[in-house]
This record gives sequence, C-alpha cells and structure tokens, in this order.
Amino acid sequence: MTELPIRTQPLAVHLPPLGDPDEALAAAAELRGTYARVADVVPEIEWPVMAPYVKRILDLKREKNAVILAHNYMTPDIFHTVADFSGDSLQLAQEAAKVEASLIVQAGVHFMAETSKILSPEKTVLIPDLRAGCSLAASITGHDVRLLKQKYPGLPVVTYVNTTADVKAESDVCCTSSNAVEIVEKIAAERGVDTVIMVPDEYLAKNVAKETKVNVIAYHGRCEVHEQFSAAEIRAYKAANPGVVVLAHPECPPDVVEEADFAGSTSGMIAYAKRERPAKVIMLTECSMSDNVAAETPGVEFIRPCNLCPHMKRITLANILECLETGQYEVKVDPAVAAAARESVEAMLRLAPPKTKPLASAAE
Ligand code: 13P
Ligand code: SF4
Repeated sequence: MTELPIRTQPLAVHLPPLGDPDEALAAAAELRGTYARVADVVPEIEWPVMAPYVKRILDLKREKNAVILAHNYMTPDIFHTVADFSGDSLQLAQEAAKVEASLIVQAGVHFMAETSKILSPEKTVLIPDLRAGCSLAASITGHDVRLLKQKYPGLPVVTYVNTTADVKAESDVCCTSSNAVEIVEKIAAERGVDTVIMVPDEYLAKNVAKETKVNVIAYHGRCEVHEQFSAAEIRAYKAANPGVVVLAHPECPPDVVEEADFAGSTSGMIAYAKRERPAKVIMLTECSMSDNVAAETPGVEFIRPCNLCPHMKRITLANILECLETGQYEVKVDPAVAAAARESVEAMLRLAPPKTKPLASAAE
C-alpha cells in the first residue's frame, strides 16, 4: 500500500477543477519542479487539481506586477508554490515596506494587509477574503487605547502588530513576537520610564514581563489558537514522546511557555527546527506551520497537536486566484489614521531593525 503524506488537512479536495483535464495535466507536467517542494505533503494524485491554480496565479502575478506575501501559517500549497515571500509578522512588514511591485496580495489576515497598506500607501493591497480576521485584533479598539492612556498618563503604549490601524494610530510603538522584549526595553529607556502598557495580548505581555526588568501592564486580549494549549497537555506529549523538543509561540499561556525548550516567533521556531534538526519536535502554534517545515526537514518527526486558525484558513489557492483576477478585496486605510499608525510601525522598525533577511520563498 502506498503511504500517504502526513499533513494536517486536505488541500486539493477543497478546489473545484479548473479548466479542462488536458489543461490540468499539462500544468501538472509543466510545474513538476514546483511539485517537488510539496511532494511530502501533497499526494501526487492531487497535483493535477492544484497545478492549474498555481500556473494561473504565477502567470497573473507576472502580468499584473504583483507579489504574494504569505504568513508562515498559510497551507503548504500556498506557502511553497505561489508565495514570493514568506515569514513572520515582522518579516512581512519589512518586506511590505520595500516591495517594488505595484500590487501586494496578502496571504494572511486583515491586520497584516492593513500593515502592508500603512507601509506602502501608494501600492494596491488585496486580501483574498475580507473575513480573515484575528481574535487579538478584535479584542481592542482605538477608544480602548485612549482610555488606557487616560488611566496611566505618561506611560508608552507598546502595541502588538496584531491590531487594527486605529489601535496602532493611538500607540507609541508596535512590536511583534520576534522583537517584543527589545521594543519594551528600548521604548522604556528612550522615554525614561520603568513601566509600559502592552496591548492587546495578555499572554505575550506576561511572557515578555518574565524576560525584562521593565514593568509591563497587560490587557486582556487572547489568541484563540494559542490560548488552547495547556501545560498538562504538553506534559502528556512529553511523557508519550521521550526526548521531544518543544517549541512554543509567546502567545501561549506562560505556564505552557515554561514547558518549552525554546519560545519565539513563527520564523524563530522554523529557524530552530531547521538548525537543530531534533529527531522529534512539537511546535505549539498554528498547525499548518508544521506541515510547511516538515516539507523542508525530512527526518524530523513532527508531533502535531492541531490547532488551526480559522482566519488564516480562509485564504486558499482558489480565492488568491480570484483576487488576482477580479482585484477583490482592496484594503484601504483612512490616510490620517494610516499616517499615525505608520509612525508606530516605523518606530518599531527604527528601534529593532532587521537582524535577519526575510525568508524568500521558493516560488519562481
Ligand atoms: P508571528 O508570525 O509574528 O510570530 O505571529 C504569529 C501570529 O499568530 C500571527 O497571527
Ligand atoms: Fe490572530 Fe491567533 Fe489567528 Fe494569529 S493565530 S491570526 S493571533 S487568531
């Protein structure tokens, strides 16, 4: 019996056939090299269904001078075959700030597309599904930030990039999971204070507080994916898999992060797995990421507790194609709000400049 690839969810099964069967087989043959990148997670029988989508997307990108910026949580078909750049939130923001193409398709959630628009206002930014939100972004408004500033006058507001533009506009500086400690320490030093307000992720704030002498006032937002992990569950995985290396995202509860061998952003976790090549690894984060890394790290066994982000999973090859064909959905930000939000994002890029190059994807 042929062994089917391990991955967390079916991919091609959601795609209606595109074009006639001859076109599908021709695209599958032409993009054989591209298939090799996903062969570990996409059964060969599914490739003729996917390949026509991939081919049309690659053609339209060239025709329209477009780039696809994909978050690490995209499914492997998007991540490995059509993305021009893939990375964590910080890397995507850095890339959006310098991208040369006139059209950006954000394969991620709405706040990421807004951040791209804020940093590249002259570019057209599209998101394939407007419903791709985020529980953290939904947990706070600009008005809430104004109330916090009234309650704690004089304290800088450090805002996680997983927020809407009006929240960023009310903030002093943004941060991402890969630079949160650095930003908290640098903004506190720059403003001569020993306390900062950090919104909206309660767990990220508490995890950061453990790493710094700066006092951190947290808010009550949570990531609906990462809050599901529990320390007891992780201990059970460790007991069942002796020697397993545990990597955690800092949006997880602090007692979960304490069970981990390493905590970092999505790209930090990917880099760890690729560098250390543990025999067995468990990534406490959105589970498409394990599929993406597994395709590039043969020999590493991934234990996959499957917590999917319903917002990220709204993005598919089908709606990426539709978005390139129709120009839907354009993400717009009020210019005054965008200008104020840009100051917070640029303050982040100034205080914590890039240390690593964004991960260029394998897409042609
Ligand atoms: P990073 O990719 O910045 O680590 O963020 C994770 C996340 O949950 C984004 O929605
Ligand atoms: Fe938001 Fe969590 Fe989904 Fe990331 S994984 S987009 S933080 S809900």
